[in-house]
Amino acid sequence: MENNDIKTIQWFPGHMAKTRRAITANLKLVDAVAELIDARAPLSSRNPEIDTLTARKPRIVLLNKCDLADANATAAWVSYLKSENVTALAVDCKSGKGLNKLMPTLKATVLRELMEKRERSGMGGAPIRMMILGIPNVGKSSLINRLAGGKRAKVEDRPGVTRTKQWVKLQDNTELLDMPGVLWPKFEDQSAAIRLAFTGAISDDILDIETLAMKLLSYLAESYPQSLTERYKIEPDGGDDGLALLEKVGRKRGMVVSGGEINTERAAITVLDEFRSGKLGRITLELPPTKE
Ligand code: G4P
Repeated sequence: MENNDIKTIQWFPGHMAKTRRAITANLKLVDAVAELIDARAPLSSRNPEIDTLTARKPRIVLLNKCDLADANATAAWVSYLKSENVTALAVDCKSGKGLNKLMPTLKATVLRELMEKRERSGMGGAPIRMMILGIPNVGKSSLINRLAGGKRAKVEDRPGVTRTKQWVKLQDNTELLDMPGVLWPKFEDQSAAIRLAFTGAISDDILDIETLAMKLLSYLAESYPQSLTERYKIEPDGGDDGLALLEKVGRKRGMVVSGGEINTERAAITVLDEFRSGKLGRITLELPPTKE
């Protein structure tokens, strides 16, 4: 990808420090962390500091929005993460698909030692406390709502927890901190920032919307040409650059202004909206690294 034209994005150091402190304080209260990433861009949607931040806290990675991602690519990501000793599950927090496996998987893997220790010391009935972490828009609130259901039962405020923080009781003797940790996205890596902008996780403003749509179309023409053929009835030929593809989409959709020019801005908005809502099919933006 050409990244020269990307605008610099700022995340203020003071804000990061405050976020780090808040997450660290909350982590002391839980037994496990569920880290949400976007199944369409598992690397780009992962905060690079999460390993340090969560230190040795047992963690499960949830590849969310798997309904929008390429199923084969998601399976490849789950097995790649497994090979890196990371427990991962593909989920869809909008419909709830896959979430029934969350607690059983946690207990059988990363929390196994804790469960056994509790059992041995007669503490088998103690609740498992969990916290959700992830960058904005990755689906943290959707996950909490799904797990907690409509009837969020309030648990008592704990010492060290401010009044606004609440615990929600889930099934399986689990308590969830009703306040996810919001991590800053990966802005340092510009290709990652572009992928996040494709998904709508960060503002479109990092590039002008036409450039963003052109980059997405170039990627689709290369990796998922059938998505363009099926949705827009255009045949990307090898020589089409992003602009040519955007104009083809605009022409097919009748987005023509006086003089016969294509309204590429409207076409760009359409392409991005349709990608984000899954109308272009199930698409993954990055694949796991291949091992030697
Ligand atoms: P956040 O708390 O991490 O910021 O994310 P949030 O749950 O608010 O989710 C951000 C958007 O992603 C929401 O869409 C939500 O519905 C959608 N979403 C979350 N999980 C999934 C999933 O597994 N699959 C799909 N397809 N979408 C998911 P929105 O457009 O902002 O809101 P809404 O129109 O859905 O209400």
